[in-house]
Amino acid sequence: MSDQQRLSRTSVLFPTRAERERLDDFLTRELPRANERVAQGSVVPTFNLAAFKSELAGFDFQAPRPIDELLSWSIAQLEHGVVHMTHPRYFGLFNPAPTFPAECADRIVGAFNPQLATWTTAPAAVEIEAHVLNAVARRAGLPPESVGHCTSGGTEANFTALNCALTRSNPRFATDGARAFSGPPVFYISRESHLAWLKIAHQSGIGRTGARLVATDGSGRLDAHALTTALREDRARGCVPVMIVATAGTTNAGMVDPLEHCAQIARDEGVWYHVDAAWGGALIASDRLRGVLAGIERADSITIDAHKWFATTMGCGMFMTRHATVLSTVFHVSTTFMPSNNVNLDPYVTTAQWSRRFLGLRLFLSLAAAGWVGYGEHVQQSIELMALLKEKLAAQGWTIANDSPLAVLCVEPPPGFGDVRSIATRVITSGRAWIAAAKFEGRDIIRICLTHGEATAQNITELVKALSAGK
Ligand SMILES: Cc1ncc(COP(=O)(O)O)c(C=O)c1O
Repeated sequence: MSDQQRLSRTSVLFPTRAERERLDDFLTRELPRANERVAQGSVVPTFNLAAFKSELAGFDFQAPRPIDELLSWSIAQLEHGVVHMTHPRYFGLFNPAPTFPAECADRIVGAFNPQLATWTTAPAAVEIEAHVLNAVARRAGLPPESVGHCTSGGTEANFTALNCALTRSNPRFATDGARAFSGPPVFYISRESHLAWLKIAHQSGIGRTGARLVATDGSGRLDAHALTTALREDRARGCVPVMIVATAGTTNAGMVDPLEHCAQIARDEGVWYHVDAAWGGALIASDRLRGVLAGIERADSITIDAHKWFATTMGCGMFMTRHATVLSTVFHVSTTFMPSNNVNLDPYVTTAQWSRRFLGLRLFLSLAAAGWVGYGEHVQQSIELMALLKEKLAAQGWTIANDSPLAVLCVEPPPGFGDVRSIATRVITSGRAWIAAAKFEGRDIIRICLTHGEATAQNITELVKALSAGK
């Protein structure tokens, strides 16, 4: 095959500059239009699943298809075939409508596709990410020498915390795993924490029973007294406590565990203290509200997801620690084929990933463009709209079940509205809003969370109407 023939076959993969501009222009024009239609339409999928599956089955990848058609087809499937995080009445699970600078970052990064495994291959990118992560860590109150890196999400960041805690507690964990300990290693989370912790315990090799679920205090916060009791009993049984996790903004109800108290217990016990602030951590942006997280600055490590309330595109978690050297102890490995092996610089020896996308640009651009002030207003606005919703629902006889300082509301319906599952199903199938049915402290509740940066009071009024429609 001649070079000419080969190039004509692959030209759709690597088109000319003119062709790239034409297709880019098409996306630039069509995507905002689709987003506008989404905001006017249903929050939930509206497509015919059977027709979609049969179209999809038609892609046998034999004969190439025109790229213009494929791009239009892809936009249409996402416009009609997903629950819309970008819809202002998606009151869901922390998934945000992304900031525009974060979308721009994805486009820029996609075009250059830098490899962040080593500093040598992408010095500018590694430095930008380290810079923004250090700024976030310092804003959370960690000391200036703190370090951080982007992760695929909160789960990877929390996994990193457990690895650090286990290795700090017993350096032989690196070679011998859980066998290195004199008894079963255990860590403490509240039963309202994000239960990806169970998967993390499983994957780390300490097993799911190593994740101790501590009782809550009746209002969704970790019960510090129950924690000290559990620690005492575990030690008496020969277990080895390695970490206490406080959640700053529980997934279900936006509750903040007693951060100061947990920090003190962790210090007294000599164990790692991790704060999982995956969603609630964005409160550090607001001068008015950051006091809610007092005690976070005492953490050994912190998880904050940029892809939650900081509203970057998914997945973009962040792991930060005050102990810079622990990461290279946990993740160090040496090879001959990598261009460098510097434990102070190279992300492949200080993080769980190897090949690494340049995620940090998403938050860097957003934060640089809006400043802490802009993000502060963003979180304050969500909380103010939640206060409005609380007022409106209470006036209609709904019972507020949680007392969160963040933008999550758990509510029990007034008599005559039906059970929470049927209310949630009714609202969701109407396409007018997305909410969840859940349990909070043993009570059946409707969970409503606001993360969308462009939601308005009008959207709140519409949600209230949707909740009472057809009751
Ligand atoms: C408190 C908390 N921690 C961890 C996670 C897991 O984060 P991710 O889904 O980004 O892995 C979540 C997700 O909602 C969360 O709310």
